[in-house]
Amino acid sequence: MTTIAIERTTNIQTTCDIAWDNVQDYTHFIHLHRRHFSSFQTLYDDGAIQVFYYAARILPPLPLLRRYVSVRILNHDDHSFKQYYRDVASGDKVYFFCAVVPDGDMVHVRNRFVFEVSGPLGKLPRLAATLINRRLSSMWHEDADLLVTRYKHGGFDNQVCAPPANQDFYTRIAEMTDESFMERFRLADYRFNFKEGAV
Ligand SMILES: [Fe+2]
Repeated sequence: MTTIAIERTTNIQTTCDIAWDNVQDYTHFIHLHRRHFSSFQTLYDDGAIQVFYYAARILPPLPLLRRYVSVRILNHDDHSFKQYYRDVASGDKVYFFCAVVPDGDMVHVRNRFVFEVSGPLGKLPRLAATLINRRLSSMWHEDADLLVTRYKHGGFDNQVCAPPANQDFYTRIAEMTDESFMERFRLADYRFNFKEGAV
């Protein structure tokens, strides 16, 4: 088992509201990111916590699927979320922290991941990081087109009609996903940093 930390920062001209709406929205996955997902189900969503079960194409367009259960905890106040994924076949886990940071008329999207990689790919961390980054970059470019279009179109309304969060569930999941994320990030066996755009 190898752990790989990946940091990605992307930069785009749009509003914080539009970018935040995009990163927390999963309804576009199966449409906009159809190359990267073969199925996607929402198991739970109360506006603060989202739980998913999905099948990802890890090397699109090849039909190599990995199935994940994933829990995401949103912090609407500072436009960030924490997400925990578990590969249901291998048990490998992924920890993800995402923050949308406004900067003038630009927005930075900062991503930090810790991937557990078992099997042969775990022996080739640079190749694993490159393949992971290629997939993330491809999805980012799909999102970027959407973000630019929405920014140019204008008239964005982010009114939310979600029910209040279930606090017990929230607390338990938060404890689980909080579990020393930064410690895992710091202690990862390998570390890579990718940037796109004029960051
Ligand atoms: Fe997306």
